Amino acid sequence: MSIGVRFEDIVKEFGPVRVLHGVGFELAPGRVYGLLGENGAGKSTLMKILSGYEQPTGGTVHVDGQPRSFRSSRDAEAAGIVLIHQEFNLAEDLTIQQNIFLGHEKKRGWWLDEAAMRADTVRVLAQVGLDRDPDTPVRQLIVAEKQLVEIAKALARNARLLIMDEPTASLTPGETEALFALMARLHAEGVTIVYISHKLDEVERTTDEVIVMRDGRFVTRRATRDVTRRQMANLMVGRELSDLYPPKDPAPAGKPPLLRVRGLNVPGWASDIGFEVQPGEILGFAGLVGAGRTELFEGLLGLRPHSVERIELDGREIRIRTPRDAVNQGLTYLSEDRKGKGLHVGFGLSENLTMMALEHYAKPWLRPREERRALEGAVREFGIRTGSLDVRAASLSGGNQQKLALAKVLHPRPKVVVLDEPTRGVDVGAKRDIYFLIQRLAREGRAVVVVSSELMELVGLCHRVAVMRAGRIQAVVDAQHLTEEELISHATGTKQ
Ligand SMILES: Nc1ncnc2c1ncn2[C@@H]1O[C@H](COP(=O)(O)OP(=O)(O)OP(=O)(O)O)[C@@H](O)[C@H]1O
Ligand SMILES: [Mg+2]
Repeated sequence: MSIGVRFEDIVKEFGPVRVLHGVGFELAPGRVYGLLGENGAGKSTLMKILSGYEQPTGGTVHVDGQPRSFRSSRDAEAAGIVLIHQEFNLAEDLTIQQNIFLGHEKKRGWWLDEAAMRADTVRVLAQVGLDRDPDTPVRQLIVAEKQLVEIAKALARNARLLIMDEPTASLTPGETEALFALMARLHAEGVTIVYISHKLDEVERTTDEVIVMRDGRFVTRRATRDVTRRQMANLMVGRELSDLYPPKDPAPAGKPPLLRVRGLNVPGWASDIGFEVQPGEILGFAGLVGAGRTELFEGLLGLRPHSVERIELDGREIRIRTPRDAVNQGLTYLSEDRKGKGLHVGFGLSENLTMMALEHYAKPWLRPREERRALEGAVREFGIRTGSLDVRAASLSGGNQQKLALAKVLHPRPKVVVLDEPTRGVDVGAKRDIYFLIQRLAREGRAVVVVSSELMELVGLCHRVAVMRAGRIQAVVDAQHLTEEELISHATGTKQ
């Protein structure tokens, strides 16, 4: 049995701020919908209302023709409506199996039915293609694996309407394909699916119909086959978008490097890594997930056990024991793990922004007015959408959290900046802004390292790209040879 939904005049306010302004549209049973909109448009909020995580301020949700109001996610799940969160919602200290059944433990009489839960866990892990022991603590998983656990959790709930909020943001191409196969199977079984993504090629491939929201309102809906990706992008931002990438500046030549790394080893992940970046240069790092890109930089920054022969910054040998050492030397790092290592989501926006530059603000005393001005500047410069400046980072939309994280690492005005997945979860308009920003950083004479799983992004943006495989740099591809095919062949080892 498939579920149909009708939103009628849904309003949502957080305190004084109205984020949904009377949204109305319908989801027919058994279809696959792409829900599109810029960062902060209200997609996640609307879906949280449908799935019982938030209560609407006004309006009615009709499920199969009946007005329903779900007081909790458990309520909604009992009705077959399950949301897979954009920001993971896992208990880090519990195991995979405990997370999958948290709040839904199976019982036999008075006892927990461990055998049944184990069997279900094994089944759903196989469905999502995660090869892990159900007793593994979630804390030990990498980001992509956590995403698969989120999806497995939803499957264990037997959803009839499944909402996926940016499920592929941290998946490998292989995992993404497995997810699409799973969606196709669920679709064939009659499950209604809402798919939220900024990856328009995926929306194009997987959905029957797209629904566009802008500024907390429903804008339009189209059969997916009737719109091009470019039209989708234009509908989202409400204007004609010009080229996504800035024209490339010529690669800087013959300057002494700003950052030079020799003999970096991160046990289990990366061995004998050496590279250098010149002022004005954008150096990319490509590789399949698991190739060791993120771990390499986490090692360099002192976030993982490592050894290194030599690090030079602007001609001087430096030592980095902690990310704070690195900031003090002029090197900052944007983590791919926004919620874990990037932002302190429980803190306010300005604490997050100025955290790295605390030295400056805390000495000789805290300067709240200066902090405030810095925040206002960052909100303007990075286009961070928020109803108020006095909210916790947790209440920003996913893409806007990413912009805040970016503002944070650039706030200390670093000479060298390492950006791991800088455009994860941001909308096409904001993506373009970030690409132009990266170019500006390079033009100002900084050295920029971009780690990305989006090959197009590396090709469109970088002067050179280092390709990693199995913990080593396999090749460094220069501007003349920079194509997606070239990067893939080095990353997969099909090219010698
Ligand atoms: N708990 C909250 N408190 C205050 N404001 C909130 C809260 N949750 C969301 N908002 C605001 O509601 C607006 C819509 O956010 P929402 O997360 O629904 O956007 P989105 O369309 O999912 O964006 P993205 O593509 O970035 O994920 C944003 O301006 C956000 O800051
Ligand atoms: Mg969202």
